[in-house]
Amino acid sequence: MTEDKITGTLAFTVFTAVLGSFQFGYDIGVINAPQEIIISHYRHILGIPLEDRRATHDFVVNSTDALPTFTPPVLDTTAALWAEEEAMASSHMVTMFWSLSVSSFAVGGMVASFFGGWLGDKLGRIKALLSANSLSLAGALLMGFSKFGPSHILIIAGRSISGLYCGLISGLVPMYIGEIAPTSLRGALGTLHQLALVTGILISQIAGLSFILGNHDRWHILLGLSAVPALLQCLLLFFCPESPRYLYIKLEEEVKAKKSLKRLRGSEDVTKDINEMKKEKEEASSEQKVSVAQLFTNSSYRQPIIVALMLHMAQQFSGINGIFYYSTSIFQSAGISQPVYATIGVGAINMVFTAVSVLLVDRAGRRSLFLIGMIGMFFCTIFMSVGLVLLDKFAWMSYVSMTAIFLFVSFFEIGPGPIPWFMVAEFFSQGPRPTALALAAFCNWVCNFLIALCFQYMVDLCGPYVFFIFSGVLLAFTLFTFFKVPETKGKSFEEIAAEFRKKGGGSTQRPKATVEMEFLRASETV
Ligand code: GLC
Repeated sequence: MTEDKITGTLAFTVFTAVLGSFQFGYDIGVINAPQEIIISHYRHILGIPLEDRRATHDFVVNSTDALPTFTPPVLDTTAALWAEEEAMASSHMVTMFWSLSVSSFAVGGMVASFFGGWLGDKLGRIKALLSANSLSLAGALLMGFSKFGPSHILIIAGRSISGLYCGLISGLVPMYIGEIAPTSLRGALGTLHQLALVTGILISQIAGLSFILGNHDRWHILLGLSAVPALLQCLLLFFCPESPRYLYIKLEEEVKAKKSLKRLRGSEDVTKDINEMKKEKEEASSEQKVSVAQLFTNSSYRQPIIVALMLHMAQQFSGINGIFYYSTSIFQSAGISQPVYATIGVGAINMVFTAVSVLLVDRAGRRSLFLIGMIGMFFCTIFMSVGLVLLDKFAWMSYVSMTAIFLFVSFFEIGPGPIPWFMVAEFFSQGPRPTALALAAFCNWVCNFLIALCFQYMVDLCGPYVFFIFSGVLLAFTLFTFFKVPETKGKSFEEIAAEFRKKGGGSTQRPKATVEMEFLRASETV
């Protein structure tokens, strides 16, 4: 029996693929540190004087000079009111453009998340990744040159296009890695997607330091820098082998598939992989594809798909991306003197705990890690809010908020961060799996978008109490998880389906659970 090993070609190929995940993380984190600078640039572009209410007031009052002056006292009051209203409107406009700059990324992701698999099947994995990169480059260019035009429009457009790229690769990269990795290394290599993503977040936070790129002169370079990994990925992809599974199962090109496998495995004997793919091909042709509607109408899929969507909603509505998009301003309001460094701390802790979860996830159960993470995050949001609310009374409360944010991120990466992404694959067999995964990714992006769009408004509305909202949400999802989410670790599809029937308390109908499913369970992709 040949031992599965990581060959040079495999390492090189996985590295090339996760350059996409890295860009994804970079785009999530990059908007955070330069928030104030870009907002002040927007004000400049839109002709709105800096924050100061009085300045805005004066500016608008001056512009009413041309009004008739026959009733001066009334005009004064009216003009002042108008000025006040216009100042408010301008301020809302800037908030709107800023919220759109953050959230348009998720709109792109949302739209494209449905097409990753489709594009991969249409063009092949390599060409799909290559063509997706044209989106990444276009987005980076728009943002890189945004300083020299209508910045708000260019940034919103650029981030939407980068979002399209990220939506595509959030399906393509895990799929490609899953297909080139030897079975026994599939889990470990699959988690490199999330690890590269959090590395991207961290690097964007470091690059955003004011003495590097997060300043008035260079913020546009910071935004456009994702062109570098995009170009690098394009270049390296030319040297990567096409997915043998795509060649064999989709194109029926056995010779090419063997050639690709030989390169990846560094061995002439690839019978083990070929046999595995043969079985997989038989499975694929014996199980029918399932539509989105069928996921909800068929009683054996309904419970798992609801749980899958709830897991993704729980991940996003925990408020994690509120932290990743806005932590610098949160730290600022928490009274931290160097908020950007605290943000980098968040990125570093995020990375460390992602690595920890890689070690834990196959030992502890998925359900228990998810629950521990949610409960931990629930308490953290309470401490965060208490810290922010009491900041006026006790200066040291800023440390309470900061520690709570660090712990919040750590608990997130222990469970709710990585688990939904691969647990959904464990709920479904080959037939319904692609549709379920696409729907779950779409749901994730929709919720991501809602948080990106609404977080700033929620902060404006609730001030320091904002995290209490997330406490409520986290509590609700924790209870849902406790009562409805089954453990999947080490279980076959049949056992998982039985758990679902038990937890759902409904249908007694047995889902189609076959010996082939057991095989699929063993060779599942992450
Ligand atoms: C997960 C989430 C993503 C989040 C990231 C943070 O991948 O899906 O939205 O930004 O974790 O590490």
